[in-house]
Amino acid sequence: MDGRQVRSYVLRSGRMTGAQRRAIDELWARFGLARLPDDPTTVFGRRAPCVLEIGFGNGEALLARATADPARDYVGLEVYRPGIGHVLLNLAQQSLPNVRLVEADAAEALRGFSAVFSEICVWFPDPWPKKRHHKRRLIQPGFVSTLAQALRPNGILHLATDDPGYAEVMRETVVTSGAFLSTPCPGTGRPESRFGRRARAAGRCVEDFCYLRLQQDPQAVEPHP
Ligand SMILES: C[S@@+](CC[C@H](N)C(=O)[O-])C[C@H]1O[C@@H](n2cnc3c(N)ncnc32)[C@H](O)[C@@H]1O
Repeated sequence: MDGRQVRSYVLRSGRMTGAQRRAIDELWARFGLARLPDDPTTVFGRRAPCVLEIGFGNGEALLARATADPARDYVGLEVYRPGIGHVLLNLAQQSLPNVRLVEADAAEALRGFSAVFSEICVWFPDPWPKKRHHKRRLIQPGFVSTLAQALRPNGILHLATDDPGYAEVMRETVVTSGAFLSTPCPGTGRPESRFGRRARAAGRCVEDFCYLRLQQDPQAVEPHP
């Protein structure tokens, strides 16, 4: 838990459908990984940029992006089993070869990873709006360092939230880390998900932030393709 004892989620049981449960039993061997890969080429059988989405929920954005972007490989990380089951069903139906799932807490699963991913997306992480719960927020200094370490030089960190207070904290935390430079979001963008739609329906603004992982010499940074 990157030094923290407090988790960024609460696991709720009993919300799995029969189809989702069966999908986990029958499809995990095909699309699931026991842990994050430190060398994605061994998993996908090719050398391609690898994108990590943390907390993919029901996987709407993950599936949309992986479908539209077959030249890159996608790893989705989640702790929410109904969401994992839901995505497995879709993966089997669409027969997508460039997606794998990992069931794990991101703060634990990413520890020790170095220069693996070309992009890491954290879209609508739980905002934990009450002040006494802020310690549960995923985007914290220690976790941002872990993300910086896991990204390849010039890799992209893409964050999105509809909570203005959390947005401010995200910006401050990433900038203060010294490991990133603000950059326009890549053309592949962020496909709409339930949380984005819900925010818009409620009249809340969604903020996207993209950052380039700096190389040791900031002068040497090139824009990401
Ligand atoms: C508010 S939902 C957003 C889901 C999705 N990104 C979307 O836009 O629809 C946040 C998700 O992050 C997951 N999550 C929270 N903390 C996590 C962690 N430490 N590791 C992996 N997933 C986490 C939750 O289970 C939940 O599905």
